[in-house]
Amino acid sequence: MNVLILGSGGRESALAWKLSQSKLMKRLFIAQGNAGTSEFGTNISISETDFPALRQFVVKNDIEMLVPGSEAPLAEGIVDFFRADPQLNHLKIIGPPLEGALLESSKDFAKRFMAKYKIPTASYATFGRDEIEEGYLFLESLHPPFVLKADGLAAGKGVVICHDLDSANKELRQMLIERKFGAASDRVVIEEFLHGIELSVFVLTDGKNYIVLPEAKDYKRIGDNDQGPNTGGMGAVSPVPFADSDFMSIVDKTIIKPTISGLQLDNIPYCGFIFFGIMNCDGVPYVIEYNVRMGDPEAEVVLPRIKSDLLQLFELAATSKLNQAFLEIEPETAVAIVMASGGYPGLFEKGKIITINKEICSEAFVFFAGAAFDANNQLITSGGRVVIATSLGASLADANNKAYRQLSGIGFENANYRKDIGHDLMKWQQKAQS
Ligand code: AMP
Ligand code: GLY
Repeated sequence: MNVLILGSGGRESALAWKLSQSKLMKRLFIAQGNAGTSEFGTNISISETDFPALRQFVVKNDIEMLVPGSEAPLAEGIVDFFRADPQLNHLKIIGPPLEGALLESSKDFAKRFMAKYKIPTASYATFGRDEIEEGYLFLESLHPPFVLKADGLAAGKGVVICHDLDSANKELRQMLIERKFGAASDRVVIEEFLHGIELSVFVLTDGKNYIVLPEAKDYKRIGDNDQGPNTGGMGAVSPVPFADSDFMSIVDKTIIKPTISGLQLDNIPYCGFIFFGIMNCDGVPYVIEYNVRMGDPEAEVVLPRIKSDLLQLFELAATSKLNQAFLEIEPETAVAIVMASGGYPGLFEKGKIITINKEICSEAFVFFAGAAFDANNQLITSGGRVVIATSLGASLADANNKAYRQLSGIGFENANYRKDIGHDLMKWQQKAQS
């Protein structure tokens, strides 16, 4: 099969690595890809949201399957674009149509969907630009901290947590009236703060059947001990020790099943990933958010733990046959550590030479993100998150040690990474065992 992956981050490197191993794979292309994806396929310089150019490429190269990595092309309607094309309406696409993508691109849509299907989530209310007074009153009725969410996509920055009423009122004004996030904050979801520990749960679905992929924990803040600003994610661990089979069966019964059946009842044909951002509140799971794609860097720990042929699973999903799927999972623990450019998520310099000691990294899965080749074919930094090293180990401690050891074989000027990936989970394990 000829496959085109859309995107250029670490997640797309992991997808390219995994899909390239499939016995069904013929030719693999990545738009636009990065220095890492070129090892597994051919990079092409078309934007992931330039649908007419992608269409032309699909026709010319006989592409049979499209795998969007991020939410951007899905939220812009890539599935609907190809479905409306008489020549290409059978193209297999691993992602939902526009209406399904609303689960991620509109927080208000997601909350209404959860309320309709009684899926556990924080209580909430949504306010438009002319409802700010009602918004202030609603904030007064809640206990701090206050959670304010821009309804639309805001490059991962649209959720603000305020610790007192004054700053929450100010934030609401900034979002609604001063349009802090542009049109994305024309409506704001205000919700109850949930206390607990987070994890990410992933399913691949054909709209009716689904398989639950390995779960993961992501480390979003730039600094150790969850300090500093939010990033795209600075590391990930899979499996998550507290997500035992009892907990996961509650997730399945109260969250996954009603989500899939809700999509069916709403006539939303959904083929692709659903990423459930979940808060474990004393053993009770609540949905914090839906995403309609894999996580990044979660994909870099989840995919190395999938032993089955991923392209075969995609093929089954795209042909509504996921009930025939058999998912084989690697029992070892995967730890991924992101090495970022100094300054990220703020301003940072690009063009730093990346050195890799292949001996030290020999057992790591090295996934590139913001990395490119310069005119002399030298590997250089080209983005905030540059490289992700994933290691597998018999235990979390083992995988963690290995991941840091192997990361020491990678370097560039001003490189920055978190030193505590997985430490909270190791502490949780020690406490649970004592
Ligand atoms: P989101 O973009 O929806 O994933 O939100 C970003 C982060 O804000 C989440 O990963 C949580 O850490 C936090 N968050 C979002 N909603 C809540 C909530 N209701 N209670 C506590 N924390 C939340
Ligand atoms: N790592 C979080 C995300 O992909 O949204």
